[in-house]
Amino acid sequence: MKRKSRRQFLKESVTAGAAAGSTLLARENLMASAAPAPGKSLGANDRIRVGLIGCGGMGRGDLRDFLQVKNVECAALCDVDDQQSAMASKVLFEDQGLQKPALVTRDFRRVLDQRDIDAVIVGTPDHWHALPTIMACRAGKDVYVEKPLALTIAEGRAMVGVARKYNRVVQMGTQQRSAPHYTEAVEYVKSGQLGKIRLVRAWAYLDWKGELPPVPDSDPPPTVDYDMWLGPAPKRPYNKNRFHFTFRWFWDYSGGLMTDWGAHMIDIANWAMGVKAPSSAVSVGGKYGYPNDAMETPDTQQVIWAFPEFTMIWEHMLGAGRGPEAREHGVLFHANNGVLVVDRGGWEVYPETDRIDKPRQYKAAGVPRRTAVTQTYHLTHVQNFVDCMRSRKRPNSDVEIGHNSMIACHLGNIAQRLGRQIKWDVENEKIIGDPEAQKFVSKEYRAPWKLTTT
Ligand SMILES: NC(=O)c1ccc[n+]([C@@H]2O[C@H](COP(=O)([O-])OP(=O)(O)OC[C@H]3O[C@@H](n4cnc5c(N)ncnc54)[C@H](O)[C@@H]3O)[C@@H](O)[C@H]2O)c1
Repeated sequence: MKRKSRRQFLKESVTAGAAAGSTLLARENLMASAAPAPGKSLGANDRIRVGLIGCGGMGRGDLRDFLQVKNVECAALCDVDDQQSAMASKVLFEDQGLQKPALVTRDFRRVLDQRDIDAVIVGTPDHWHALPTIMACRAGKDVYVEKPLALTIAEGRAMVGVARKYNRVVQMGTQQRSAPHYTEAVEYVKSGQLGKIRLVRAWAYLDWKGELPPVPDSDPPPTVDYDMWLGPAPKRPYNKNRFHFTFRWFWDYSGGLMTDWGAHMIDIANWAMGVKAPSSAVSVGGKYGYPNDAMETPDTQQVIWAFPEFTMIWEHMLGAGRGPEAREHGVLFHANNGVLVVDRGGWEVYPETDRIDKPRQYKAAGVPRRTAVTQTYHLTHVQNFVDCMRSRKRPNSDVEIGHNSMIACHLGNIAQRLGRQIKWDVENEKIIGDPEAQKFVSKEYRAPWKLTTT
């Protein structure tokens, strides 16, 4: 028999994939009325089988740590770009002398179809977080979904609802929630020793990420199912800048640095302050650093949020690394008795002193810098998820915690895009008195994709 050329093989695989995809899609549409698959209960020593959806930089990082957890194995790799799944297969399996997972696919619905897969890791770009998470919950799987939880507030709310309805464990990839030094710092803030906290500042300054020079649209690489990469996002020609990793700087797929790093840092602020969401947001900023480059999202941005008893501020800059406290990222809690600062390296407290016309007295005990005791808290976060899969307890970054922390970030971006203050009804999760702004709370999906909320 004549051997097929690589090009012919690829072409046939794509066609076969598309056909399989449409069958699966038809089935998904029917799933709305079909009973969801129940999740199986896992004993302490049962092996847990996971599937990775999105084999890019972070998906591979996540899976690397899942494979370190006792009694966890990977049963499927999924990416719309064959090169990305091949890379995951090579570095995580072949290079380690391990057998690669039996299923390697471009279509995540094939992973969800596997009854013996207990959980999925969603490491796709942000515009592809909600649907795989929701569909996985419906299929009886637990989900470790990367931050930011979703592209919109409405997607986040739907993810919470579906996770609860099907009683699934859903953890967002904000690994700081499982870091001992962040936990200590948050407990110190909550202890009241700082006194009344009036201002919380969070920031990210990335000096390693500068200009994104424009490049022309082109054909997508032959290894990619580009239509599936776009998924619910608007159809447009392929452009390399909008693709792997740099998708973050385009509104169709992400929220720029406000949601990329805000997801991590605002989450710490929310955790320590015990709040759900702000009552208003204003934002200024723009493409000040790289006015003519390809990015849509601001390279420089400051957001101010109102809470009943304190103010919260976000700052970011791309192409500059010296943020407040000469740190590239962090969270500061300014209070009557002192200031606590925490970042990925550790935390410390600088005490405030009494008025200078009196003998100077510290109002709080200073806490010298406590260096992070472990840099492996990402693994701890993954372990926490696996533990919760067995215990059925809520994980450290439960989906609802993630959703709440993302609200401030999304409101910051809505205020930025509309250039005006946004008022938020915290209880009902609605923008107050601004129908144009309310439209940004959700997003229209490109057919045939639909945001299922049940
Ligand atoms: N927790 C953290 O510290 C951390 C760090 C980096 C990134 N992230 C998050 O991880 C996610 C991925 O980021 P990245 O930098 O790895 O991006 P990336 O572009 O390197 O990887 C995303 C991968 O998903 C694939 N993909 C896209 N649509 C898909 C689909 N429908 N089905 C299957 N695969 C699909 C892409 O082809 C790509 O290989 C983002 O949401 C990002 O915010 C988290």
